[in-house]
Amino acid sequence: MDHTIVVVGTQWGDEGKGKITDFLARKADVVVRSQGGNNAGHTIQIDKQKFALHLIPSGIFNPNIKNVMANGMVIYPKALFEEISILESRGITNYQLYISDRAQVVMPYHLELDDLMESLKGDQAVGTTKKGIGPAYTDKASRFGIRIGDLLYKESLLESIKMALNYINPVLKTFNRETFNADLIADEYFEYGLKLKSYITDTSLLLQDALDYHQKILFEGAQGTMLCIEHGTYPFVTSSSPTAASVPLASGIAPQAISEVIGITKAYTTRVGGGAFPTEFEDEISALIREVGHEYGTTTGRPRRIGWLDTVILRHARRINGITGLSIMLLDVLSGLKQIKICISYELDGRIIHNVPGNYRDFLRCKPIYSTYPGWSEDISNVTSFEELPKNCQNYLFAIEEFTGVKVTIFSVGPDRKQTVSLKRYFE
Ligand code: GDP
Ligand code: IMO
Ligand code: MG
Repeated sequence: MDHTIVVVGTQWGDEGKGKITDFLARKADVVVRSQGGNNAGHTIQIDKQKFALHLIPSGIFNPNIKNVMANGMVIYPKALFEEISILESRGITNYQLYISDRAQVVMPYHLELDDLMESLKGDQAVGTTKKGIGPAYTDKASRFGIRIGDLLYKESLLESIKMALNYINPVLKTFNRETFNADLIADEYFEYGLKLKSYITDTSLLLQDALDYHQKILFEGAQGTMLCIEHGTYPFVTSSSPTAASVPLASGIAPQAISEVIGITKAYTTRVGGGAFPTEFEDEISALIREVGHEYGTTTGRPRRIGWLDTVILRHARRINGITGLSIMLLDVLSGLKQIKICISYELDGRIIHNVPGNYRDFLRCKPIYSTYPGWSEDISNVTSFEELPKNCQNYLFAIEEFTGVKVTIFSVGPDRKQTVSLKRYFE
């Protein structure tokens, strides 16, 4: 019985995690975001109404679900209030939200530092979302971080901010950047603390209770495996680990508590920001995919880079995350293409390799080796079963299963909640 499901991105993010989280959440008791911050952008479409969530878990549309923002997150309070007010303006007022007292807070100087570090990297810039995510995690690791629970104690909050600024302000000054006033920030953030107070709790205990009562818990990953700070294309990654392995640590549960891991996978590949991308291509087909798939960033609006499906990275994601089923997304976007390619291995300096090399310079030189499949011309956006899919589309899914060694348990044929076909009964 699968009481706990992790939804994890297998590529470079934007695979459709928000959509599948919302889809599976209908049967869940608790939905948890355990890492990342408002660098994430998760789109949910319910009966033509589109919502973009950045910090708030995608279970928010169901009043019976407890939505948890766990200890591994970095939370920018301003962005959170903005998100809450957008939801309220659209009639979403009846929800349950819990925020970990241990989650880190994104401070205004983190945004400035993010911008500074990117500019110093020149043409090696990561292409971050400039939301202060990297500097917030840096401060966490260097123990200059402010935690959500700290916002409730004004004096010690001021002391902690002063301590952080003792080292951050001189750095900013060196680069002729804006410096920050600890008193002003402490006043502002203490007010935020008061506004957040009713949401703040020990979410690890809340999750333990849910586990003890065999409640159904869904963990909503942000970013994707290839953006993982440990197992991604370092240094072109985010500053947390978006893998299933990070979920127990980042939410305060035992590792044994995870029963299923669903790998959310686009039927092709996209990447936003800098960094190597072996199957990337640019021609009229990639332009078509970008337009049909609306491949523009949910958080930054940047056009996403487009490539064919890469099963080398999918096998990497499978191994790192222990993926038990794949959810293939945006399958409808490929309708009408004459041929579809799947990368099955790489050529690196004349050798064939089947794994993602650890060294980034090696990864940059990897050339994709493709298997080519005939496409299909039918519109599949109203398909409700595997059998209704055109034969060539079925064969494409079989090929994905063959090259990854994982069963396709869900496929998605459009952005709406309804355009989802589950081949496995999750949470039942
Ligand atoms: P996330 O970050 O993983 O939650 O993904 P995003 O929301 O950033 O990006 C996925 C995009 O694809 C969103 O615009 C979704 O509305 C859209 N989407 C999700 N599934 C499908 C699908 O099956 N077909 C189409 N056409 N769009 C989809
Ligand atoms: P979701 O959850 C796609 C990328 C950025 C950049 C790198 C580092 O919507 O899938 P950061 O701001 O995290 O320091 O940026 O990571 N990135 C994402 N790309 N989807 C995301 O989230 C991303 N979150 C970060 O573009 O390349
Ligand atoms: Mg996204």
